[in-house]
Amino acid sequence: MARNLFTLVSVGFALGIRAQSQASSPILVSRTPAGASNPIPEAFVSYSIEFAFFPDFAGNISSPNTFSDNLLNNIGSLTGTKPYIRVGGNTQDYALYNASLQEAINGIYNLARSADQPTTVYIGPSFFESYQTWPGTKFSHGFNLGLGGNNSAGWETLLETAPLACKALSGGKLLWWEYGNEPDDYSGSSEWGVRQASSWNEPTYVAQWLNGTRAIKSQMAKACPEMVSKATYGYLSPSFAGVKGHLKPITTFADGLDADDDIKLISIHNYIGGATKPGITLQGTLMNHTSNVHSASPILAVRDNLTYTGIPFILGEMNSLYNQGAPGLSNTFGAALWGVDFNLWCASQDIKRTHMHQGTDYRYASWQPISTNKTTKGTKAPYYGNIAVAAMLGDLTRNSVQVVNLPLENDEESAYAAYNDGTLRRIAVINMREYNYTVNGTSSIPNPVPRPSQAYTFQVPSDYSRVTLRRLAANGSDAITGITWDGWSYNWELQQGKPVRLHNITVGETMRVKRGSVTVEVPDSSAVILDLA
Ligand SMILES: *[C@@H]1O[C@H](CO)[C@@H](O)[C@H](O)[C@H]1NC(C)=O
Ligand SMILES: *[C@@H]1O[C@H](CO)[C@@H](O)[C@H](O)[C@H]1NC(C)=O
Ligand SMILES: *[C@@H]1O[C@H](CO)[C@@H](O)[C@H](O)[C@H]1NC(C)=O
Ligand SMILES: *[C@@H]1O[C@H](CO)[C@@H](O)[C@H](O)[C@H]1NC(C)=O
Ligand SMILES: *[C@@H]1O[C@H](CO)[C@@H](O)[C@H](O)[C@H]1NC(C)=O
Ligand SMILES: *[C@@H]1O[C@H](CO)[C@@H](O)[C@H](O)[C@H]1NC(C)=O
Ligand SMILES: *[C@@H]1O[C@H](CO)[C@@H](O)[C@H](O)[C@H]1NC(C)=O
Ligand SMILES: *[C@@H]1O[C@H](CO)[C@@H](O)[C@H](O)[C@H]1NC(C)=O
Ligand SMILES: *[C@@H]1O[C@H](CO)[C@@H](O)[C@H](O)[C@H]1NC(C)=O
Ligand SMILES: *[C@@H]1O[C@H](CO)[C@@H](O)[C@H](O)[C@H]1NC(C)=O
Ligand SMILES: *[C@@H]1O[C@H](CO)[C@@H](O)[C@H](O)[C@H]1NC(C)=O
Repeated sequence: MARNLFTLVSVGFALGIRAQSQASSPILVSRTPAGASNPIPEAFVSYSIEFAFFPDFAGNISSPNTFSDNLLNNIGSLTGTKPYIRVGGNTQDYALYNASLQEAINGIYNLARSADQPTTVYIGPSFFESYQTWPGTKFSHGFNLGLGGNNSAGWETLLETAPLACKALSGGKLLWWEYGNEPDDYSGSSEWGVRQASSWNEPTYVAQWLNGTRAIKSQMAKACPEMVSKATYGYLSPSFAGVKGHLKPITTFADGLDADDDIKLISIHNYIGGATKPGITLQGTLMNHTSNVHSASPILAVRDNLTYTGIPFILGEMNSLYNQGAPGLSNTFGAALWGVDFNLWCASQDIKRTHMHQGTDYRYASWQPISTNKTTKGTKAPYYGNIAVAAMLGDLTRNSVQVVNLPLENDEESAYAAYNDGTLRRIAVINMREYNYTVNGTSSIPNPVPRPSQAYTFQVPSDYSRVTLRRLAANGSDAITGITWDGWSYNWELQQGKPVRLHNITVGETMRVKRGSVTVEVPDSSAVILDLA
């Protein structure tokens, strides 16, 4: 009885009046992980936090940001490991150390350069307290190469902060170190320009990187001798903005970047497009599997070329649209669906981890850690996509999980299968066809435009008998609130980001598998995971 009531309410809520599609031909799903990724390492779903905003996200010892910690724990309880946190970004290369500074950070904005980030940055000793607020979390700390390579204050900062950083990250908190953010952009014109293009090349970069990292190591050898052994000391590098910039990753490695044999992860950054670039749309750019495949493809080619190094390859900073995202695109439920497709595509292609970049007031952020006069504190739409990816991967510490893409016909949809220890367990479908619940500029509930759905038929081995559905749902691709994962809300205003089961969303839908065939309806602009039993 109660169940029927839920269903009535929620069908009306989630789907409006449905216009169902024709069932397409069955999608074959193999019993074994043929063509799938290698087993996915733990903490695949990870974050990168802009250096200057790390104190906002993490708080400090007397005032830890427990909201952020709750959101990290939610992902940890799905995947078995809390997300790894890379602390870095443009502002890592602006940061100078001031030992007398009382606050964690003093950031000065230059609106001609950026309204989103301070471009003059001083950090004080208490900056490093922020590494103490999230139990059981591993971090990378980004040192300043932009100013450190050729400026005496920058070099002093390197020498002074290396001991503080190694002490802060001792006792199992260290992922790895990083020296320089997007050095392939250092000679870029307006935004940065901290090196001259004529003399900024791979050999010069390699020389400066080796010089600086050796200085970091010798400082750490004095302050934290246990952290400079072969097993405990290393870098993610080169943290280039991409693979086609002023410096090329392949050349950089050929020129001896890893001469000291201390690079533990090859890290490259990626965005699908630019926040203010013309022609960017939700449907065309983000809710588009082909666009995601095209975006990843040159990176995968470079990754393949660098396989000879034997170093795992990650996206150490990524998100939807660079320059902190665009309102109406990067902050919507559509961008959450983008994140599900892009991250699962990366997982299926053996990218070992993705760090989704975050910052205070960023349009693409998964959450806003504090209240500001620009943005309300809260869990944002993209976070729900991160949760769905975590749920699709499952506990990576207990199972060997492999993911394979299941090719579909259209740009606006994708599907993946996940295997635990070689056994098919989950199928994800992402229906990225755009469905606006805002019509002609005003949100109209009930929506006069019926919400279409697509039928997906899967052919699985005939010994499966039942599937249970978990849905990623919202009123439309343009929704920025009211998003749920399997009926859970992680919103700040409910339980400070801890999971809360809502009672007005359908959960626990099950379907029988008949002779290996199962058909699931997926409303446009939504995703679903089928758990197979
Ligand atoms: C979503 O639609 C339902 C009606 O179907 C409405 O009650 C609810 O307020 C909407 N949510 C948002 C966030 O607009
Ligand atoms: C360092 O911080 C102290 C205390 O706030 C301040 O007086 C001093 O001017 C700062 N130095 C620089 C170089 O910003
Ligand atoms: C810790 O954070 C609180 C709240 O933001 C702030 O008031 C306090 O000054 C911070 N302490 C230090 C040492 O930075
Ligand atoms: C390393 O960099 C520092 C700071 O720029 C410089 O003083 C030093 O000469 C460099 N060492 C080498 C070997 O290049
Ligand atoms: C050193 O940095 C300054 C900016 O601080 C830049 O103008 C200059 O070109 C850099 N020098 C070299 C050799 O890269
Ligand atoms: C999806 O992206 C591809 C590649 O950028 C593009 O050719 C195609 O037109 C896009 N599809 C839609 C529906 O916009
Ligand atoms: C890697 O790239 C280099 C330079 O572009 C090229 O010469 C080499 O053949 C490539 N190696 C492989 C294995 O693709
Ligand atoms: C918004 O907050 C920032 C940072 O605290 C402050 O500099 C700015 O003046 C505020 N703007 C308005 C309009 O209040
Ligand atoms: C949704 O809204 C966007 C932005 O107004 C518009 O470009 C797009 O065509 C709309 N999509 C649908 C399916 O109405
Ligand atoms: C939206 O506006 C267009 C153009 O004015 C109109 O044709 C259409 O019927 C409107 N749609 C709805 C659902 O009101
Ligand atoms: C479902 O419940 C939540 C929490 O009480 C509420 O915010 C939301 O508007 C409800 N949604 C609908 C469609 O009634």
